[in-house]
Amino acid sequence: MAKLFINEKEIKGHINPEIYGHFSEHLGRCIYEGLYVGEDSDIPNVNGMRKDVVEALKEMQIPLLRWPGGCFADEYHWKDGIGPKEGRKKMINTHWGGVVEDNSFGTHEFFELCEQLGCKTYVNGNVGSGTVQEMSEWVEYMTFDGVSPMADLRRKNGREKPWRVDYFGVGNENWGCGGNMTPDHYANLYRNYQTYIRHYDNSAPIKKICGGADTEDINWTKKVLETCFASPHKKENHGFMDELSLHYYTVPGVWEHKGSATDFTDDEWYVTLKKAYRMDDLLNKHFAIMDQYDPDKEIGMSVDEWGCWFDVEPGTNPGFLYQQNTIRDALVACINLNIFNKKCDRVQLACIAQMVNVLQAVILTEGEKMVKTPTYHVFHMYKYHQDADLVASVMTGNREIGTENDKVPMLSESVSLSSDGTINVTIGNLSIEEDAPIEIALAEKKISSVTASILTGRKDAYNTFDDPENVTEKEFTDHTVKDGLISFTLPKNSVILLRIR
Ligand code: AHR
Repeated sequence: MAKLFINEKEIKGHINPEIYGHFSEHLGRCIYEGLYVGEDSDIPNVNGMRKDVVEALKEMQIPLLRWPGGCFADEYHWKDGIGPKEGRKKMINTHWGGVVEDNSFGTHEFFELCEQLGCKTYVNGNVGSGTVQEMSEWVEYMTFDGVSPMADLRRKNGREKPWRVDYFGVGNENWGCGGNMTPDHYANLYRNYQTYIRHYDNSAPIKKICGGADTEDINWTKKVLETCFASPHKKENHGFMDELSLHYYTVPGVWEHKGSATDFTDDEWYVTLKKAYRMDDLLNKHFAIMDQYDPDKEIGMSVDEWGCWFDVEPGTNPGFLYQQNTIRDALVACINLNIFNKKCDRVQLACIAQMVNVLQAVILTEGEKMVKTPTYHVFHMYKYHQDADLVASVMTGNREIGTENDKVPMLSESVSLSSDGTINVTIGNLSIEEDAPIEIALAEKKISSVTASILTGRKDAYNTFDDPENVTEKEFTDHTVKDGLISFTLPKNSVILLRIR
């Protein structure tokens, strides 16, 4: 029997809602078809944005959206995506499938989408092939309220008031697709570019995100912090950065043969989950460097790309990164989100890649049809952690399971306390063989009610356009409360949310 001891009196940190953020790139059918269909489409839309998708994302409580890339960001020239649509430049999306990008979704459309979603905005600038002037003018265009060439241009294009840019990323993966730079070169460019991200509205300063490392590249983190963290103006303007990013994908196989999203063995199940757990170790390694430069945790870690990366669905464009999503993806999401919650003193933001029709998507679309994936349901269950306090929790009797080479703890958990006093517990059972009897004990709280929901199914169960409800969140009532202890059995392959009042 596993026991989860919760000390709801011991607050360990605050869970920034942006940890539950999403990422939408001009890649495959994420933006076009998935989110934006245009005003003239037969698919029901508001100002071109799909109604069904917007509704589902709001219901999931999306807190933040990152755009326009990814690798695309360092080839994106924002002026191509403003003004009358018929006059917008067409370009080839060289990274993703070599298709024509007609720029019909640009800055105005992004903010329209975020306004409909009611979420914060994370705009990613172009360092790889753009100039300081281009980046600085974009910030002026988006956020300046006075009289200036860019603010006037925005008004001419139909938007009187500036928008709010919550986060601005200075380049993306500049060690790779964003310019193949050395850390020293990028760090110097970063110092230069970030200078011109002006806070035109001092009541809402833009948080600057410095491009971080790939997976385990500790040297990148070290070099970038060495050059960019120690600012003489630190106290006045929060230094040169507010966040440092990290990208890590869960790839069960090798890059050339990553493995199928739906057809996998028991061994591949455990390999995948073990690789998902690697996030914990990676964060510890990068945090060790961050702690040297920033012991007071003034800057946050922004894990702005994470999730499963499998081979594309057979018969689909390899450049579109379209993959299905099973219960295995749900467990990967559960592991990562529990890790981010537990490390919320440093992890301030995270974006799963990507929101619709690309990689570990929460939504898949086909024409006018839409399905919510198992990963969607995990985000929906975890939404109560947003803006809650992380509280101390320890799981005993949590055995290691898996194969000889790939072992993982059977249960992954995190616990938070909402401002109304509700305790939110999320637990995943990673075993494909065994159900897990669990008992929960609280420090002092008298339990008046427990409600729960569960996501479970065969290890490779997923939703299709013909069977969209195959894997969904269901009410879970099979728990008892006796002598202050909550008891239940968590089936194999499942994720549970308990709300204790
Ligand atoms: O999410 C797909 C791609 O993965 C992004 O464009 C890039 O940043 C990363 O390598």
